[in-house]
Amino acid sequence: MTILEFRQQCEKALDSCRKESQEVDSLDKLNAFKGRHLGKKSALTSFYQGMKDLSLEDRKVFGQVLSELKANITAIYEERLKEIDEKMLLEKMAKKKVDISLPGFDKATGTIHPYFKVVREIVDFFVGLGFVVADGPEVETDENNFERVNIPKDHPARDMQDSFVISDGWILRSHTSAVQSRVMKEMGGKEPVKIICPGKVYRRDNDATHSHQFGQIEGLVISKDATFANLLELLTKLLRHLFGEKRSVRFRPSFFPFTEPSIEADISCFECDGKGCSFCKNTGWIEILGAGMVHPNVLRLNGYDDKACQGFAFGLGIDRIAMLKYGIDDIKKLYLDDADFLAQFRKE
Ligand code: DAH
Repeated sequence: MTILEFRQQCEKALDSCRKESQEVDSLDKLNAFKGRHLGKKSALTSFYQGMKDLSLEDRKVFGQVLSELKANITAIYEERLKEIDEKMLLEKMAKKKVDISLPGFDKATGTIHPYFKVVREIVDFFVGLGFVVADGPEVETDENNFERVNIPKDHPARDMQDSFVISDGWILRSHTSAVQSRVMKEMGGKEPVKIICPGKVYRRDNDATHSHQFGQIEGLVISKDATFANLLELLTKLLRHLFGEKRSVRFRPSFFPFTEPSIEADISCFECDGKGCSFCKNTGWIEILGAGMVHPNVLRLNGYDDKACQGFAFGLGIDRIAMLKYGIDDIKKLYLDDADFLAQFRKE
């Protein structure tokens, strides 16, 4: 066979391949087509088999023509494969309708808990004034919780904080005032002391505004010249920071075993602006916190010289402030982890 005749044969094979390829419209047909034109019984394979009878020189020339034929057939096959793949994908997509107008899934974002909003706001306020945040354990000794803050064994004030006893001499702390004695002990009688301590406390209480577990923030300042006037100014600033600059602040005499004199602070009702409403029980005022000058006994019991220094302390309820600020009617809502309730604070 001459090279010219071989070329013609190859062209014929390619022509029939092209023609047949137009009929190929499915994967099955394509597989059969591949067998016929690239498989063992194809013209292409028989051309390759014929190669071995040629001289080395002819093999080079014929081989080149044959390689071209193989490349052309393979290209036709691959083109059809691509077209059929696309066709099948489109058919599949047409069957499986996706409604792209449906809204997507909403990922619920978390929110800072109203309790911790209040903690952060108060801690920020005091840290800005140079206070240090102190810490203490929730399981506390009777000594730190009561004795060292001037509430001896038979003192009636213990009844007001009917506490959870863990074992002899150990309780769940009933107030953050327990941290006062820890800090003073750690300071070894040195001043100045300027701390606040946010934390959980526990009491046998249970109604809409009291629960067995709640949060307090304790404050303690000891120095040579910490005065009652300093305390009043500090608390007035704190309460206006928390409840708005327009609030009037009122101080009333009170009693706490660990302070002398002792006071309680009220703010003018932010619902009625002091006129009297159901929110403030028609008094025009809302009770917020307790405070006073550190009792000399407390200084002495904790290693301080009550003649050389003095101080003031205060304590406020975190839950109560959160309830007042956000209009929460039941203290339990603050620890029940109700997602719907908490979602309301997302935009705050
Ligand atoms: N420990 C008090 C309580 O739980 C709150 C308190 C009042 C703390 C007056 C103080 C204070 O430091 O001076 O009711």
